[in-house]
Amino acid sequence: MTVVTELFEGPRTQLRIGGDWTAGDGELDVIDPATEQVLAAVSTAGVEQARLAVDAAAEAAPGWAATAPRRRSDILRRAYDLMLEREEQLAELIILENGKSYADAIGEVRYGAEFFRWFSEEAVRIMGEIRTAPRGDKRIVVLPEPVGVSLMVTPWNFPSAMATRKIAPALAAGCTTILKPASDTPLSALAVADILAEAGAPPGTVNVVMAKGSSGVVDVMLEDPRVRKLSFTGSTEVGRILMEKAGRRILRTSMELGGNAPFVVFDDADIEAAVQGAVVAKMRVAGETCVAANRFYVQSGVARQFTDRLTEAMAGLRVGPGIDRSNDVGPMINTAAVEKIERLVSGAVDDQATVCTGGAAPDGPGYFYQPTVLSEVAPDAAILGHEIFGPVAPVVSFDSEEEAIEAANNTIHGLISYVYTGDMNRAFRVGEAIESGMVALNRGIISDEAAPFGGVKESGVGREGSHHGMEEFLELKYLAW
Ligand code: SIN
Repeated sequence: MTVVTELFEGPRTQLRIGGDWTAGDGELDVIDPATEQVLAAVSTAGVEQARLAVDAAAEAAPGWAATAPRRRSDILRRAYDLMLEREEQLAELIILENGKSYADAIGEVRYGAEFFRWFSEEAVRIMGEIRTAPRGDKRIVVLPEPVGVSLMVTPWNFPSAMATRKIAPALAAGCTTILKPASDTPLSALAVADILAEAGAPPGTVNVVMAKGSSGVVDVMLEDPRVRKLSFTGSTEVGRILMEKAGRRILRTSMELGGNAPFVVFDDADIEAAVQGAVVAKMRVAGETCVAANRFYVQSGVARQFTDRLTEAMAGLRVGPGIDRSNDVGPMINTAAVEKIERLVSGAVDDQATVCTGGAAPDGPGYFYQPTVLSEVAPDAAILGHEIFGPVAPVVSFDSEEEAIEAANNTIHGLISYVYTGDMNRAFRVGEAIESGMVALNRGIISDEAAPFGGVKESGVGREGSHHGMEEFLELKYLAW
């Protein structure tokens, strides 16, 4: 087993401001959710350090915006190479602070690195336009410019990849950045900042501030007129509060918020493929993703067969610390997460759901929850209306296509939906009728650096990844000539 201690000792537990590792005005402990042991104590920022981070990002902004796109591209490409060279250590860091299985952790590092590679390629392809006005009296010149200092608030479920998914397009577009990682998982974000510095990102272009209760520090930065952009990934509840604050300063925002993904299986589907897809869509990161399948709607003719096979597959997963590579399912992030899952499952059982497998938290240490399948779930059960964020699959049966679409759309969220059918006409018909920013057709995973990731309704605004992800960090200037 590789030793990762050098990745979370010394300066890499401090704030990163203006190219220096700096002590903050407090500390917080990072806990290994598999053992409940303290891994490291990291510095936390107060108001003063938050202002210093904005100073550093604002000071670096003009120089970085004027840096040749090819140079920005080369730095990102070097960061991609460094991430892959260190993928084992970075994966181990994710396992330790987040609790992921090895497969999920190494998958995250590679996924995260791809954002550096993708946006290194996009950095040199920022397009403007020039046209003759319809009246023929002038040229319309459209010049994309960097938005400016960008604040990024990232979640604990992808501590590395959500940092790279935001920082890479921002740097490619010529913006400087301040990252506020989740307090549960700051170490991976600090490792990313370290790699970017080594890759040649100039001082001040990538700043990282940890905070205890985030709001004070984030508020100071949101109120600062030099900050021009907020990019957030997290819950709809927190996103709503941040959007209101950002709205006061008319900030550009990209919000990647909660989901409540329906997983719809029609009776003409390949059931074995649907079960495999369901396990991936449900169990990636033990269900702790915003794209996790949250509600399984299965057509009545195949509901029993699907539920039995899903039960078998879920019961066969090995639960335990990710540091043991033979384990498939790691712990939840903390006790509160386990308690929430327990509440939702017991509510469903009170409403007559049957526990086909799992249904309990094993004895500690560690914040584990067993992979669980619930059948006969009442269509109005609370568990179907909440983002479970855990390894629980509630199955509901339906009869008609219309009924499935109505159930799928019966949510304030609209991030992703999964549809399994053997009829491609139906796949597109249902795919178009479902209200979500992303639809997986006969697939359990769709995340890709080259695809626009994002939701509709209360799942967010804006897109990450792909060339659309660059637009989030560019303003259009119109020069009339
Ligand atoms: C998330 O859960 O926030 C991101 C998932 C992904 O990018 O696949």
